[in-house]
Amino acid sequence: MDKLIIHGGSRLVGTVEISGAKNSALPLLSATILSSGVHTITNVPKLKDIETFLILLEHLGTKVDIENDGTTVKLDSSSADKQDAPYELVKTMRASILVLGPLLARYGKASVSMPGGCAIGERPVDLHLTALEKMGAKVEIEHGYIKVECKKLKGAHIYFDTPTVTGTENIMMAATLADGETVIENAALEPEVAELASALKSMGAKIEGAGTEMLTITGVRDLKPLNFKVMPDRIEAGTFMVASAMTKGNVLIKDCPIETLDVVCEKLRAAGAVIEIEEEGVRVKGDWPITSVDIKTNPYPGFPTDMQAQMTAMMSIGSGLSVISETIFENRFMHIGELKRMGADISVDGRNAIVRGVRGLSGAPLMATDLRASASLILAGLVADGVTEISRVYHLDRGYAAIEKKLSALGADIKRISQ
Ligand code: UD1
Repeated sequence: MDKLIIHGGSRLVGTVEISGAKNSALPLLSATILSSGVHTITNVPKLKDIETFLILLEHLGTKVDIENDGTTVKLDSSSADKQDAPYELVKTMRASILVLGPLLARYGKASVSMPGGCAIGERPVDLHLTALEKMGAKVEIEHGYIKVECKKLKGAHIYFDTPTVTGTENIMMAATLADGETVIENAALEPEVAELASALKSMGAKIEGAGTEMLTITGVRDLKPLNFKVMPDRIEAGTFMVASAMTKGNVLIKDCPIETLDVVCEKLRAAGAVIEIEEEGVRVKGDWPITSVDIKTNPYPGFPTDMQAQMTAMMSIGSGLSVISETIFENRFMHIGELKRMGADISVDGRNAIVRGVRGLSGAPLMATDLRASASLILAGLVADGVTEISRVYHLDRGYAAIEKKLSALGADIKRISQ
């Protein structure tokens, strides 16, 4: 297993380019199930989760060709003939659930291993299943698999109690080939959902209300293959913004989807960072002391839960007290135990973390526990005194493309060692 070794103390200075968004690429790959033919998706990030998803599509019978240093993916779904997502693939990536809606809509049946709990919480899929049932599907859980069947899905009125991102994506995809009109109320507003809607429309789907809380999808007979460029990753961009702000850096972030990062920018500015929009990208400059600010995660356009761990790391060296409230996932504070091993003063009370800023962190051996937690430990390592050694970095490889290379190019002393 690989480890990252970080010698803290370097300011980050220079230019970084943001890769395509993982959470957009995954539903786009899934959308190719909806139509037979050759699809091309560009600006695909080179990540473990994408590799896993491509293996899943290959398992379903799609031919996969990777070009342009891995960032262009051509998929020929003409001879796809399977409708199951096995446990071995689903257990490593919950987003595999995204094949459920498209498989059912296209082939009338699907069998997808039930995603279990994961490091950040229970993460149920009940809302996906209830919505499919409302559309006429027979849903059964058998031997750890979700089995769904319905010759032809029917349009339905769906209301999500909680705005679920992959749930909205799954049902939107399923509805594109259903009979009649489907209305999704309290749909997730995340930009990746709106991007999937544009992609589906480019395939011939009829969707109204993209980017709003109410989506109306009128089913069509069939869809054309997909040709689409993945949007840049707002969470990767946000992570580099925090990295620059925390290290007293001066970083120009190219391909930064700044329009999706309003609340993150607001919090970083309140913490003292300077954020300037330039012709070539977004420049983030940081300085100490870092002003402590409170953070509360919320569905988009609120503060993203996927940026909470990174901001917790930043607040651990803030000048005062910061309350971090996690409202989306019940167990997303696992980075805190590791940050405390570096000298951070944080106490957790239910879904709130009380962070008392300390003057500095000290390098320590650390264990990454989930994807965004790993990023927060890197950020802490960058400003810590001495050496930080992070193990279990496979979590990081699921969602950040070449992060140690990008950070090294900005002047960080970080290297990967394979064991
Ligand atoms: C997606 C993102 C993930 C991000 C999360 C929240 C992808 C591949 N992953 O995950 O990076 O952290 O959105 O922004 O896009 N819920 C239910 N029942 C359901 C579905 C969800 O109760 O059937 C709850 C969840 O437990 C959670 C909330 O709804 O509390 C939001 O979860 P959801 O938006 O579904 O997260 P994901 O789509 O899994």
